[in-house]
Parts: sequence; C-alpha cells; structure tokens
Amino acid sequence: MGISAQEYQQRREQLMSKIGGGTAIFRSAPMAVMHNDVEYIYRQDSDFYYLTGFNEPEAVAVFAPHHNEHRFILFVQPKDALQETWTGYRCGVEAATEKYGADVAYSIEELDQHLLQYLANADRLYYNLGRDRSFNEQILQYWQKLLAGFQRKGRVPTALEDSRVLTHPMRLVKSPAEIEVMRKATALSAKAHNRAREFAKPGLYEYQVEAEIEHTFRLDGSMGSAYPSIVASGANACVLHYIDNNRQMEDNELLLIDAGCSVDYYNGDITRTFPVGGKFTPEQKVLYELVLESQLKAIDQVRVGNPYNLYHETAVSVLVDGLIELGLLKGDKEEIIKEGKYKPFYMHRTGHWLGLDVHDVGAYMKDQETWQTLQPGNILTVEPGLYISPYIQPAEGQPEIPDRWKGIGIRIEDDILVTEDGNDVLTADVAKSVAAMES
Ligand code: GLY
Ligand code: MN
Ligand code: MN
Repeated sequence: MGISAQEYQQRREQLMSKIGGGTAIFRSAPMAVMHNDVEYIYRQDSDFYYLTGFNEPEAVAVFAPHHNEHRFILFVQPKDALQETWTGYRCGVEAATEKYGADVAYSIEELDQHLLQYLANADRLYYNLGRDRSFNEQILQYWQKLLAGFQRKGRVPTALEDSRVLTHPMRLVKSPAEIEVMRKATALSAKAHNRAREFAKPGLYEYQVEAEIEHTFRLDGSMGSAYPSIVASGANACVLHYIDNNRQMEDNELLLIDAGCSVDYYNGDITRTFPVGGKFTPEQKVLYELVLESQLKAIDQVRVGNPYNLYHETAVSVLVDGLIELGLLKGDKEEIIKEGKYKPFYMHRTGHWLGLDVHDVGAYMKDQETWQTLQPGNILTVEPGLYISPYIQPAEGQPEIPDRWKGIGIRIEDDILVTEDGNDVLTADVAKSVAAMES
C-alpha cells in the first residue's frame, strides 16, 4: 500500500517536462516545536513528499532538467550516529540516490558548494517564497549572485516563478495509486465514525468520543488524525472549528463529529451529526433532513464537466428553500442568495479539494469569472450544514429566531471522487439516513 518508487519517478518526469529551461527548488518542512526542546511528530511538506516520498526535515530537492549530468538532486541530513541515537535513523547521503532515485545526493551542509551549479544555466527559478523566510533569504542571495554575472554570461535565471504552478495542477488529478490510498484513508475514517456513533451516549464527555475515534485511527494502522477532531455536542456544533471537546453530552442534543485520518499522508475528512440519545427532536429532525437533502442534491452535481461551484450553489438553493418554508428566512429567494442573507445559518462553502492536504491544493477558478470544471480523478468534500447559534444575528429585515431552534448545529460531510461517468462516494460506509442516525 502506498505510492511506488516508479510513480514518484513519473511525477518527477512530468514536473520536469513542465520546467523547460528552468530549475525548481523544493524545501522539506521544518520540525515544529511543541514546547521547549520537544518537537511535534514530523509532517513533511506535501509538495516535497509528492515529488520525492522523502520524509525527513532539513532536505532540499532540486530539479534541473537542462543540466548535463544531474536532473534530480537531493540534499539531505548526513548520517550522524550520535544524533540518530536520539532522534532516529536518517537515510543519509549515500542511500538517498538508490532509495529515492536522485541522480546525485549531497549533505545539506554542502548546499552552498553545490547548489549554484544547478541554477547557473537555468533561464528561470521555480521556488515557493511563501514558506520560510530565512531560506528565502538564502535563495535570493544565490539568485543575486547569478544575476550579477548576467553581463558576462548572457544566460542566468532572470525570472522567479512560484513552484506551486508546477505541482498544484498535478496534485489536483489523483492517479489510480493515489485513489487507492485515499480509499484506505477514507475507509478507516468511516470505520472510526461508525464506532464513535455506537459508543456515544448521554453522560459521556466529548473527549471520550474523541479518544474512541483516535484509538480506532491508530489501531487500524493509519498515521492518526488528519486534523484535530471536532467532537461538538449541543450548541458547540455551531462553532465550526470547535476542538475543546470537554463538555459532558446530554440527552436530546445532537453530536457533530468531524474527524478523519491520514494514510501515507493522504487524508479522509468526514462529518456526521446524530442525536446522542438516539432520537431527534422535531426541530433537529427537520433541519437534519434539510441538510441531508441539500447534501444528496449537491453530490449529484459532482460530475465531469460541471463547474466546480455548481454543487455549492445547489446546496445553498436547497437550504434556502427549506429555511423559507420553515419561516426562518423570508422574502425573495434570489435576493436572499444574492445578498447572502442565509449566511447567519450557513457561513462556509460546501466543500474543498481533498488529498495530501485536507484543504488540498489546486485552483478552484480558471480566471476571475470562470470556475474550474470537474475532471476524473478530482477528489473533493461535500459538506453542507446549518448552524443556529444561541447568539445568531439574523440578516437585516429577516425574522428573529424562536428559541426552540437555537443551539442546533448540523453538518454532513462526505469525500467524493469524480469518475468518468459520475462520482464515487468514498465514505459511503458511514450511514447518514435519519433512520440510521436514530438506530
Ligand atoms: N475538517 C475540516 C473541514 O471539514 O474542512
Ligand atoms: Mn472538509
Ligand atoms: Mn471536515
């Protein structure tokens, strides 16, 4: 299970076919500090991982397709027996070529000596300035040095382009192997949700449900949570990124769980909302049915050739119809939508690309007016919701909300693969019908 060395190589070939006469530089993610000298579990930069499969910090990958000897160059941490005793084994310079397919590898400590030769004859540099200021400085200094030689040499990199233009369109379309890994991540995420729903009951604390979910993630061999699990009972569900998870759950209230795990850095992202005590109140039920209808109709719009935004527009349309019917909104539907008067109830978009990042990379629009069209291999979430906070402020001219509706928050989120002839709901193993939520 996972991405083969051959596929990593294909990705690099594809990348290099786009580079032309340029050189691309990618840097691994730094270690992040939790406190004092304790570090978080290492998480590689997704672009770096996508191109190399290399999972260590302090590394630089260079792609120089025009170079006469080396096209793929890796700079890595050197072997260091003492350090490795403390922090684990490193690949080291020697193994980096064989294991990761680099034409040549150097110690990261030798970046100054070796990097320039791969930049010198390039006509442009590809580099993401958005990540690390001190490394930016280093790259800009190299570039200045090269530019200073322009008069003598005639050919130096005269442009700097963001490296994300190379990788993000590639990552937007998942390969068969990536889809397999995504199936695993979403299946394990689904299993944890099913266990959590069986486990949850009035009197338990939200963190106990969180523990059940995350226990399942690790027990089944995933890397763990893709993001901090949201286990939000009652009105906590109206806080979109609630992660305190410290409240005792009561009968007659809903529990919203938004959790997913990572497999080989690919992520699941699922939300389910159900009555803790096994029975919806009438208000909860009618709102749940409305969110579910909007989600099913939105999923129907996830198909090849449709503009990306259509499933969001569909979800909003269904939700607004329902809220008008319930008397929670009033007036002309088109105007409510155009002026965003539904936003006190539904303030986020209906989904996002999903992959190596939970909010995955790739453009949503082709230009300022045109949405991206869906293509086979795209994976995205469909996650409409309704949130009636105790503090809800209706839009201007809209009715006050009776108390019986307040404190209800609902979201239903699935992960959808766009296929040649429709779509595949990767998270279909977690039920979501009213009957299933009450069982
Ligand atoms: N769990 C984050 C999201 O649903 O977008
Ligand atoms: Mn999501
Ligand atoms: Mn989510």
